[in-house]
Formats: sequence, C-alpha cells, structure tokens
Amino acid sequence: MGSTKPTQLEILKILKQNEGNFVSGVGLAERLGISRPGVWKHINRLREMGYEIQSQSRLGYRLVAVPDSLAREEIVPHLKTQWLAHSYHYLRTIGSTNDHALLLAVEGASHGTLVVAEEQTKGRGRLRREWISYPNRGIYLSILLRNPLPVRVAPQLAYIGSLALVKMLYEEFGITASIKWPNDVLINGRKAAGILTETQSDQDFTRFSVMGIGINVNHSREEITGPFRYPATSIAIEVGFAVKRQRVLLQFLSQFERDYDHFLQKGLSVMLPEFEAHSEVLGKIITVVCGDREIMGRAQGFTPEGALLLLREDGLQETVWAGDVSHVEGAV
Ligand code: BTN
Repeated sequence: MGSTKPTQLEILKILKQNEGNFVSGVGLAERLGISRPGVWKHINRLREMGYEIQSQSRLGYRLVAVPDSLAREEIVPHLKTQWLAHSYHYLRTIGSTNDHALLLAVEGASHGTLVVAEEQTKGRGRLRREWISYPNRGIYLSILLRNPLPVRVAPQLAYIGSLALVKMLYEEFGITASIKWPNDVLINGRKAAGILTETQSDQDFTRFSVMGIGINVNHSREEITGPFRYPATSIAIEVGFAVKRQRVLLQFLSQFERDYDHFLQKGLSVMLPEFEAHSEVLGKIITVVCGDREIMGRAQGFTPEGALLLLREDGLQETVWAGDVSHVEGAV
C-alpha cells in the first residue's frame, strides 16, 4: 500500500501550514523528537514522492510545489463528501482497483470505500478487455456500494457513474461530453472514460457492487494513439493543457455522491431526461453486439429501467438490456 509514514506526514503538514515560508530543520527535529539527519531523511523521501522542497542553510526547508498525486494526504483533507471515500485506499501500483475493492468488500469494508491507484498492471474493461492504465496519467478508481438493489437495477449504477462524469467535465472544464450507452464517456466522439461495475448478489438483491472507473486525464496524443482499440482521448488533449488529477477526482466524487443519493431516493427514471440529453447514440443508427447477435437499428430512447429501445430495419422495436455498441452512425 502506498502509505506515508506518520513522521513524514507531520513534516508535510508543518511545511504546508507555513505556506511557502522556511521552517527550520532544528525546529522540526525538536518538535518531532528526531535528529536533524532524521529530518533530512524524511525530506528526501518526500522529494522522491514528488514534493519540491527547497533547503537553505540557516533557514531550513520550504515547500515549493506539491505533486499531482492521489495519495491520501492530498485528497482526504479536501473531500466535500458525506460518506464517499472517507475510507480511502491508495496504491501506487495494483493489478486492478476493482479486484482490490472486491477483496475489501468480502472482508467487510464499509459502504463508500474508495480504492484508487496511480497505475494498474491488470486493469480490466468490460467484456474482459484490457484497460490501459499508464502510471500517473489517468485516474483508476473503484467505489464500494452496499445498498441492496434489486438485481435488475444494479446495471443502472453505471449510468449514474457516467452521468456524474459528464456533469463534472462540464462544470469543471466546460467540456461537453456524451454517454455511449451503456457506460462509455466520449469527448468529441472519442472515449475518455469507461466504467466496469461488478456485483455480488443473492437471487433477488445485490449484496454489494464495485463500480470501477478509468478516466484518461493527462495522456498525451502520442500515448493515446498507440495501443487503444478505439478512438480515445484525454481531458488534457481536449482542453489543451495538463490538468490536476486531484481536482478531477475530488469533483467527481462530490458529483457522484449527489447523483447516487438522488438515484437511491428517486430511481433512474427521474434522471433519464439528463441521461438522454447527453446520449451519443440517441436518434442515430447503431449496431449493438449482444452475445453472438448483432442488432442494427435506430436508437429511439431508453426504458425507465435504462434499457435501449432500437427500431430495427424491419420496423420492429427491440428492447436491448445489455450489449456493446460496436458502431455509431457518423462516428470518428
Ligand atoms: C470499459 O470501458 O470497458 C470499462 C473500463 C473500466 C476501467 C476501470 S479502471 C479502474 C477499475 N479497475 C479495473 O480493473 N477496471 C476499472
């Protein structure tokens, strides 16, 4: 786990409290009951983590810049959420945040537990596809949700996640994004985020769900054109500059908590107009792969449960509950 030692955290806190001013090494050593070389060792460790700390003889240490890390100490003090992410699990590297969250769920972790990583080595997408997870570029997170939901309602969670992402992108960056049913978030027709929800249920109700989200944040054009199997983009490419992942994460968590609570109280149907307003597929001719079937038709709308209504070429309407949209009319 990517945890920071308590003394290091304390030094960081003191440097942050002194905002840009020097803090004496002797003072730090006395306050923390450690030697001056001990202070120096912790300072170097913080530097390795990306904190820019200036040192000057007789004056001490001064914090110059904070890295765009998703570590607990950079996120948790700034959370504006009531219940989401207060149990915060940060990892520099992990196979998959979803796998980690599923393990925590089985061990009894609480509702709203968040797992977030700087890098995934086995990031998973829907349909067992790989989710490319470059270190420190994207946000790779999983949220544990424990409200029992009727089994057929659980897939709706992904709609809430994608809607929250789209709203956050608009509020924070003025980006108009769209949702490719069921749960891809596109910017200018290119994929910027994906959601993988995994649920454990009994016959009728979910025991828990893990909602995994991957967001392309600071990927460069070169990184994005390589190995991705679909046209992809990142927030940085779209706005033209690197953005703080900390800001993206914090704002997304607040938006998701609001939307999720609203969904629990009112159900998906009251949120459908918003979902439809941001739909990438509505009104277009699309192809949906459902298992070994391919259905082509015009996307006409969604049922109150979130299933897709397709008007086929033969004039029949088909309700599609789950599938993968493989082609959208006029796509990039
Ligand atoms: C998709 O578009 O197919 C869904 C992609 C989901 C990727 C995220 S990244 C965080 C979480 N951990 C994983 O292994 N997958 C999800």
